Amino acid sequence: MRHTIGIIDSGMGGLTVVRSLVSEGASLDIVYVGDNANMPYGNRPAAEIVSLTMRMLDLLSEREVEAVAIACNTISATVGQLRPLSKVPLVDIISPAAEALARRGEPDVGLFATEFTVKSGLHAKRVRELNPAVRVHGVPSPRLAALIDGAIGDEKAIRDEIASMLEKLAALHPVKTVLLGCTHYPIVMEIFKSLAPDIEFIDPADLQADAVMRLLSHDGGEAPGAAHADAPSLDIVTSGAPESYRLIMKRLRIPKARSISRLEA
Ligand code: DGL
Repeated sequence: MRHTIGIIDSGMGGLTVVRSLVSEGASLDIVYVGDNANMPYGNRPAAEIVSLTMRMLDLLSEREVEAVAIACNTISATVGQLRPLSKVPLVDIISPAAEALARRGEPDVGLFATEFTVKSGLHAKRVRELNPAVRVHGVPSPRLAALIDGAIGDEKAIRDEIASMLEKLAALHPVKTVLLGCTHYPIVMEIFKSLAPDIEFIDPADLQADAVMRLLSHDGGEAPGAAHADAPSLDIVTSGAPESYRLIMKRLRIPKARSISRLEA
């Protein structure tokens, strides 16, 4: 059985989750919604994030998706408010990442994320529920996601911002592992690695992709991709520029979208 799912993000970040699903060879029809014109969500209050997200969820329910992956940590931090409003199951990105950190059991781990995500404390809360021995040290950035969403225009500004986050983290606590708790960040993974070669940076996209596959195999009885050779199809709806999508998709080696259409800003 071929499944149709929605993936949402404030902008380009959720493409990292698309990349994971594509590389797993999942037999899925994906409708991706990115609200680039209104990003960064991470500097907004919760009520605005919820109301902007509901526009995306309403659009996806018209497209009859079976589930929505919230490929955005900032939106995932409001999942408690979104679940009762959503017509379909929501797969957030914070829970699978927190489970992975709790399983690893390193006593101190870093978290790089937006202001809203770090302030929500949801990663730390979920990890603590599963493994109270793990402490999460969060460093927020009010600008890194927007710098990356602008199609990596200013690479020096991106490097400087990451260097400053690494300094702030070192001042908080030394760590061996940092969770990239904003889906935009793994798009520039090589910059993180070059600035801190001794740190392991976790991209939670594969973890969320696995959570989506698990949900669909429970609901549909068969793991998507298990018996199908068909590659996923991708339709993008965005309030941003189609050309920036093409650029970032090329960078992430995601095959061309079937369509890119307009979401009103
Ligand atoms: N990609 C989003 C996340 O994972 C954040 C970007 C934003 O602030 O809009 O948190």
